[in-house]
Amino acid sequence: MSQEKQEHGHGCDCGCHGEQPNPFVELNPVLDHYADIPGSLITVLQKAQELYGFLSIELMRYIAIETHNSIAKVYGVATFYTQFRFEPVGKYLIMLCQGTACHVNGSKMIEEAVMDFLEIKEGETTPDGLFTLNNVACLGCCSLSPVMMINDDTYGQLTKDKVTHILAELKEAVNNEATVSETVSQEVTA
Ligand code: FES
Repeated sequence: MSQEKQEHGHGCDCGCHGEQPNPFVELNPVLDHYADIPGSLITVLQKAQELYGFLSIELMRYIAIETHNSIAKVYGVATFYTQFRFEPVGKYLIMLCQGTACHVNGSKMIEEAVMDFLEIKEGETTPDGLFTLNNVACLGCCSLSPVMMINDDTYGQLTKDKVTHILAELKEAVNNEATVSETVSQEVTA
């Protein structure tokens, strides 16, 4: 991979003449690693989503150029799989299991409690950018059903009260963080 490509992105045609930094430079080691491995497009897309949180059109276009695929193919593959997201997600991504065991044990009721508390629907993000709610298939821990994951943490045997309590605690923790940083900045500027 050339130095210019690393810094500005191969195929840059925005008229910047290489003056704009490549916003996807962190993906280059992944692209290099999988360059000669056939059938690795899905893995590259997964890694890209891990790095940037979601697959923007610009990111998919960059991957298409770098992997010598058409943008239509990359977009087609990405939209085929439900694991890929195309919009930014909140600080907390709630993955609420709707698999059979969780469904039998009340996952719909849990979903309603989450939607009521956050005032969003499935697939939406709260206006403050804190929470995104997504239904998912079996999370692989059915004995704990109904189950949800928030980012990397798993919460099992959920009830309406329990889920509301968990979300309220996360909200409060963020509010406290904001208060602490406001206090610090006031002290610094005083
Ligand atoms: S069905 Fe929900 S974890 Fe398996």
